[in-house]
Amino acid sequence: MRLTRLTSPAAALGITVVAVTRATAFTRADTRVGFYDAVTPHYVAMDSHAVPSSHDLHVRRRDARIVVNGSSSLVNVHDVYYIIDLDMRGEKIPVTVDTGSSDTWVVKQPYECISLDWEHPERKPNCGLGDGLKGDLSGGVVANVSFGRAYVDGTFVSGYFGYEDVTLAGLTAKHQRLAIVNSTYWYGDGRTSGLLGLAYPYMTSLDGADASQPLYDPIFTTLWKDKLIDPVFSMALSRAADQTVKQPAADEGHETSYLAFGGLPPVSYDAASWARTPILPMSAINMDTQELGLYLIRAESFVYGQKGNLTTNGTAWPVLIDAGSTLSVLPRSLVDKLYAAFDPPAKYMSFNGLFYARCDAKVPEFGVTFGNRTFFFAKEDLLRQSARDPTGEYCRIGVTDGPDDGSNVLGVTFLSSVVAVFDIGLHEMRFASRVAY
Ligand SMILES: *[C@@H]1O[C@H](CO)[C@@H](O)[C@H](O)[C@H]1NC(C)=O
Ligand SMILES: *[C@@H]1O[C@H](CO)[C@@H](O)[C@H](O)[C@H]1NC(C)=O
Ligand SMILES: *[C@@H]1O[C@H](CO)[C@@H](O)[C@H](O)[C@H]1NC(C)=O
Ligand SMILES: *[C@@H]1O[C@H](CO)[C@@H](O)[C@H](O)[C@H]1NC(C)=O
Ligand SMILES: *[C@@H]1O[C@H](CO)[C@@H](O)[C@H](O)[C@H]1NC(C)=O
Ligand SMILES: *[C@@H]1O[C@H](CO)[C@@H](O)[C@H](O)[C@H]1NC(C)=O
Repeated sequence: MRLTRLTSPAAALGITVVAVTRATAFTRADTRVGFYDAVTPHYVAMDSHAVPSSHDLHVRRRDARIVVNGSSSLVNVHDVYYIIDLDMRGEKIPVTVDTGSSDTWVVKQPYECISLDWEHPERKPNCGLGDGLKGDLSGGVVANVSFGRAYVDGTFVSGYFGYEDVTLAGLTAKHQRLAIVNSTYWYGDGRTSGLLGLAYPYMTSLDGADASQPLYDPIFTTLWKDKLIDPVFSMALSRAADQTVKQPAADEGHETSYLAFGGLPPVSYDAASWARTPILPMSAINMDTQELGLYLIRAESFVYGQKGNLTTNGTAWPVLIDAGSTLSVLPRSLVDKLYAAFDPPAKYMSFNGLFYARCDAKVPEFGVTFGNRTFFFAKEDLLRQSARDPTGEYCRIGVTDGPDDGSNVLGVTFLSSVVAVFDIGLHEMRFASRVAY
């Protein structure tokens, strides 16, 4: 998820971004205990796409804003994406996988890429999106309902809704409502043409252009309501290599990333490490509703320090599990302790507003506790050898700081060490530690 803000450049385009509270039509599924240990046949390998920092102009541009405001709290650097193909009538549309939003959107020709604060009149902005959908939507379009989302980093997408059969992981969501984007500013990775939103129906109307539009079922909801799968999906994100991994290895486990529907992905994990924790209502992030909207869970505690000398902070912060965020974002007061525990300590780099440590620094332990089990971040996710500063001597830390009362995110840098199960039927998340890969 890119954190939604309430006012944005998109407002100038007539996209209103409003937070509304509403009752939801979502009915909870029958629940069955025990099915989750099985690997599902409905899994799909995800490409992991690492954007080399030297190619990532928008990172600098985004950070310029942040430095102006003297705060790193809005840093939202996406340098690793997980991608699957959606199949629509035989057209393969690569999309970024996101658990922090619910709408699935794709661009469709013709579309325009517009930046409202573009400073280079001599050339057009490049949204970094692919060609997108080419033909007409077989299920038609939704009359008079526009789609619009604006994000904290200045990006936005807008368009309309339509219906199409969407196939992924061997499952077809029939007559699926999708957002079709024809006007956007986006920091694309040059490969994808849209985004697969895997969160709850509640989020489909939360900040749309038309605040009175009814909720609709996102793709995953359609799949389980149509009884094609149990109401659960899972993912195993594998650490991206230094360069783009175009074709994941066909063999199981190593370095392949998976998205799985109805059960587990085919990866090795420590079966003794399973932990479960309830998915929290939106009130956990101070919204005035008990509805479930996002994969918010309570981190019972965090531990940090050098091995043998760990400090526990038992403040039970809510955290968002977000595969669409590369970095994890945690309260500044906690992250400052983590930065200080690097040897030598991490330091702030004003060129992009993030913290770095020497690439050969001694990396501390850092773990988060759910269901009384502590899951440690991998050292290679805490100090990311593939994301370096311009000198090449400093490596980016995989956890960045946000305000103590802000939105906390466990992103790719956490998810790379676990199998994560999103169980909508039991209203809980489960995690198991991946076997080192
Ligand atoms: C800085 O923050 C202020 C308010 O917090 C906001 O109005 C302004 O647009 C921000 N500046 C930039 C460059 O983002
Ligand atoms: C859409 O809006 C137009 C113009 O306001 C109106 O004539 C038409 O009946 C509307 N269609 C639907 C399906 O609401
Ligand atoms: C996008 O689609 C909407 C709805 O069909 C239309 O009103 C708008 O003009 C389109 N914008 C562009 C840039 O094509
Ligand atoms: C343990 O870590 C704390 C800081 O978290 C430090 O002050 C203390 O000296 C360390 N103790 C040992 C024995 O290293
Ligand atoms: C945990 O962090 C909070 C917020 O920074 C702080 O107030 C509290 O003292 C910390 N607790 C421990 C045990 O370090
Ligand atoms: C964690 O352990 C404590 C003490 O053993 C127990 O009371 C509590 O219910 C456990 N919590 C979970 C989520 O398992």
